[in-house]
Amino acid sequence: MELEQIGVVGCGLMGSGIVEVCARAGYRVVVREISDELLQKGLDRIQQSLSKAVARGKATPEQAEQTFARIQGTLDLADFGDCDLVVEAAVETMGIKREIFAQLDSILPSHAILASNTSSLCVIEMASATRREDKVLGIHFFNPVPVMPLIEFVRTILTSDETMAVAHQFGASLGKTMVTAKDTPGFIVNRLLIPYLLDAVRVYEDGLASREDIDTAIKLGLNHPMGPLTLLDFVGLDTTLFIADAMYEEYKDPRYAAPPLLRRMVLAGRLGRKSGQGFYDYG
Ligand code: 3HC
Repeated sequence: MELEQIGVVGCGLMGSGIVEVCARAGYRVVVREISDELLQKGLDRIQQSLSKAVARGKATPEQAEQTFARIQGTLDLADFGDCDLVVEAAVETMGIKREIFAQLDSILPSHAILASNTSSLCVIEMASATRREDKVLGIHFFNPVPVMPLIEFVRTILTSDETMAVAHQFGASLGKTMVTAKDTPGFIVNRLLIPYLLDAVRVYEDGLASREDIDTAIKLGLNHPMGPLTLLDFVGLDTTLFIADAMYEEYKDPRYAAPPLLRRMVLAGRLGRKSGQGFYDYG
């Protein structure tokens, strides 16, 4: 199948990154946000990332300009009528995702593939809001999307071989390396990452070491790009808590139970980089 136009629902941190990598790969991209303000914020983020790519020698100014010209912002899903593949990157609320999937099912051409960038929610539950369950899968990107080389595909029990083949063609065209997981909470990466991040909060909560020493130990002792508390601030404490709760709900395994400090920091609005304060201060 020839993919020409890609739709992205949501132009937040992940959505804007997905729009950018698709446009950079040469696709026409239409992106939907729910307000002019959020759309503008997302498009500005893409412009900034493209400028950074130019500054880092990853693109020429002309390429950046052409990339941006391939992106069309909208507030209306009805503009997705010509999309061959849509990636939903809206809020992590099943009810909202099911509504989006049901609407898109009636707007998209019959051949179109519908994917969710969810980090932990059940993909078959979204697929069941459509009449194209065989054409639904998870396409999980990593933050920052233009830099992280991985895509995790989430194959439900109804996703067809044809859909997986098109998804692989799509991922390869973006220059990403692909892995495939079953439709279970956390897939591969978050299934392993979340217990590790929760344990980092636990050892900090227990007073084992300072936040700086915990991060330095992992960064230099294991050669990770970021220590776990820095990574928590980067991913977002609210996002991590949401994924942990979803995993705990499904598995009832204490490894996924959020430590009290994490929940309290989220309640206090200390969400990490995005709120200016998390384990560290970004003010
Ligand atoms: N476009 C293209 N390339 C870019 C770019 C952009 N906008 N911005 C940076 N780059 C390139 C740089 O040129 C550089 O490339 P090079 O290695 O070839 O020179 C590379 O990306 C690294 O860029 P920087 O030097 O600016 O950044 P750092 O070296 O400081 O690394 C980081 C920043 C990539 C964020 C690194 O700290 C890192 O990998 N951190 C961990 C991130 C991580 O774990 N993400 C996953 C989170 S989990 C997730 O997303 C799943 C969800 O479900 C929770």
